[in-house]
Amino acid sequence: MESFTQLKNKKVLVTGGAGFIGSNLCQALLNLDVKVTCLDNFATGHQPNITPFLSNPNFTLITGDIRDLEVCNTACKDQDFVLHQAALGSVPRSIADPITSNAVNVSGFLNMLVAARDAKVKRFIYAASSSTYGDHEALPKVEETIGKPLSPYAITKYVNELYAENFFTTYGLNTIGLRYFNVFGRRQDPNGAYAAVIPLFVKQFINHQSPVINGDGSYSRDFTYIDNVVQMNLLAITTQNKQALNQVYNTAVGDRTTLVQLTDLLKKYLSKYDPKIAQVNIVHGPNRIGDIPHSLASVDKAKRLLDYNPTHGIAQGIEEAVDWYWENLK
Ligand SMILES: NC(=O)c1ccc[n+]([C@@H]2O[C@H](COP(=O)([O-])OP(=O)(O)OC[C@H]3O[C@@H](n4cnc5c(N)ncnc54)[C@H](O)[C@@H]3O)[C@@H](O)[C@H]2O)c1
Repeated sequence: MESFTQLKNKKVLVTGGAGFIGSNLCQALLNLDVKVTCLDNFATGHQPNITPFLSNPNFTLITGDIRDLEVCNTACKDQDFVLHQAALGSVPRSIADPITSNAVNVSGFLNMLVAARDAKVKRFIYAASSSTYGDHEALPKVEETIGKPLSPYAITKYVNELYAENFFTTYGLNTIGLRYFNVFGRRQDPNGAYAAVIPLFVKQFINHQSPVINGDGSYSRDFTYIDNVVQMNLLAITTQNKQALNQVYNTAVGDRTTLVQLTDLLKKYLSKYDPKIAQVNIVHGPNRIGDIPHSLASVDKAKRLLDYNPTHGIAQGIEEAVDWYWENLK
């Protein structure tokens, strides 16, 4: 992280900082002696994710909701940069309750843009999503070519991109959107109805329960370890390349792994801790409606404009994530 030392003493607001990705961003920024403000309403984030930071004089917690413009104004005041992560994730959650997903992900996003504009922050970096590729089937996904969104969640994330682009052209606010592809790693929540596949399967394996794969397991994803995502955010804040601003970037590895390969990897690394896990069976259920068969990113644009260099492939990421879950779930 040597090249990011220029961030020392800068002020960065991380919204959703008590969540999975946000807390990892807070940690990386605090390691660089950045003055970090975390804004979170703990809707899906957890206090233990940020407990270690509370004693750090460089860390400030604002408990509040991005649906409240005044809260956003207070949080953005005097900030140099914003890393906007707060949102309600999960496609199924948005299908069950599109109104709340829209209120947080669209109206809350707009509040944050307005607040960032009015506070004159230097850059507004935000969590976009691979779901924006929707029904477009071509692989690998390149930023310029998207399909129709397949869920309310995907619509909210696409609207974010439209607003961000418009806030640059209309108000001159510099933005960068990072289209995250299936992020995983330490502190991703394994609990709840909308848990992501990797932490859910890890928890099930640890408890000797059979994970259920939707379909035959041939569906594939560009699973992206959290350290690669942290790197992209730091590059987005620090890049001196003017051409790199006001763009969206795939934030991924550029490699895909099927669900069967994923469960094999999880078993391999978890059974080092508990050999019985190697014997846990996988169960197959029906395909989930709206699931696309394959997802794979081109990361050429990020490499070209941001000098992105992913440090973790799937196997190394899974190994590190499993070590963390074993320590923290067992
Ligand atoms: N994890 C992934 O694979 C992935 C993929 C694509 C995009 N994203 C996006 O990345 C961002 C972070 O996701 P995550 O995986 O860390 O999820 P997360 O649920 O762990 O984190 C989201 C955080 O936002 C907070 N939040 C939610 N509503 C809020 C509100 N109204 N006001 C203030 N805070 C609020 C939550 O409490 C939580 O701490 C989200 O915008 C998500 O849509 C994640």
